[in-house]
Amino acid sequence: MNHLGFIGTGHMGSMLIRKFIETGAADPADIIASNRTREKAGLLSRDLGIQLGGNIDVAAQSDVIFLCVKPLDVMGVLRELRYELTPDKLLISVAGDFNLAKIASMSRARATRVIPSIGSESLKGVSLAVFGRNTTDSDRALILRLFRAIGHPIEVEEKDLDILIVLTSSGPAYISAVMKELVLAATRKGVDADLAERLVKETLEGTSELQAKESFDDLITRVATKGGSTEEGVKAIQKHAPAMFDELLVATKAKHELVRKKVDAQG
Ligand SMILES: NC(=O)c1ccc[n+]([C@@H]2O[C@H](COP(=O)([O-])OP(=O)(O)OC[C@H]3O[C@@H](n4cnc5c(N)ncnc54)[C@H](OP(=O)(O)O)[C@@H]3O)[C@@H](O)[C@H]2O)c1
Repeated sequence: MNHLGFIGTGHMGSMLIRKFIETGAADPADIIASNRTREKAGLLSRDLGIQLGGNIDVAAQSDVIFLCVKPLDVMGVLRELRYELTPDKLLISVAGDFNLAKIASMSRARATRVIPSIGSESLKGVSLAVFGRNTTDSDRALILRLFRAIGHPIEVEEKDLDILIVLTSSGPAYISAVMKELVLAATRKGVDADLAERLVKETLEGTSELQAKESFDDLITRVATKGGSTEEGVKAIQKHAPAMFDELLVATKAKHELVRKKVDAQG
């Protein structure tokens, strides 16, 4: 059995630990975690029975190390662990904007990246996996096994990550933001806000089940019958949404570039 280490027990680190344990993909006895603010990891340890340590303990005692800190904290951790991250260790970074080449330049571990989605909280959603040049077949199998337990892992190329993240890990925020606008439009017409939110959420749940079986276009055609009011509503979305989503892509790209500049400035 592999010993799994987690550095950073914030939203993503703690979700991964909880879900790997809940699904039986990992045994609490095989998990050690560290966090900058010790108390946060302490709560998790009391809840789940995992071991706690400092970053160096985690790296030294694990075969597989999940790096779950924010992009601007990655370099500090890699510097701290320069002696522990040896080629016999598998490093899985969940951080955006810190690429494999940069990780490889600072560590001798077999580096990979997996960008999970908070959807794994309900064992759904996509984890985007990028494997490095020195990823072995058993690394790949291990990563796919772990992330299959909590959703759908998909291997992708690193150059495509920025845009694919929009569709996967950022997706729950964007879908919620769009649905919130629909709720607000209804409230501007006098509908009670709580009622509007409940109706949209129920509709979203039903829609996601239908979407699992048919294409977006088929579903639109079935609901927006020719000459009806829904067809007019769909036309309004098709008129305005392209500009909104194009702007979203421009804004997120600019932010990725800014964070990468800050990462590069760290050394
Ligand atoms: N949230 C998502 O949906 C999502 C999706 C995909 C990928 N990610 C990636 O996951 C990473 C973590 O995101 P998050 O949302 O989990 O952020 P977060 O909640 O802020 O968690 C980051 C954790 O890292 C800890 N930390 C920072 N520096 C550290 C160090 N030197 N040593 C040990 N622990 C340290 C922080 O400790 P403190 O308690 O002291 O702050 C914090 O608990 C990011 O790189 C992000 O790009 C997140």
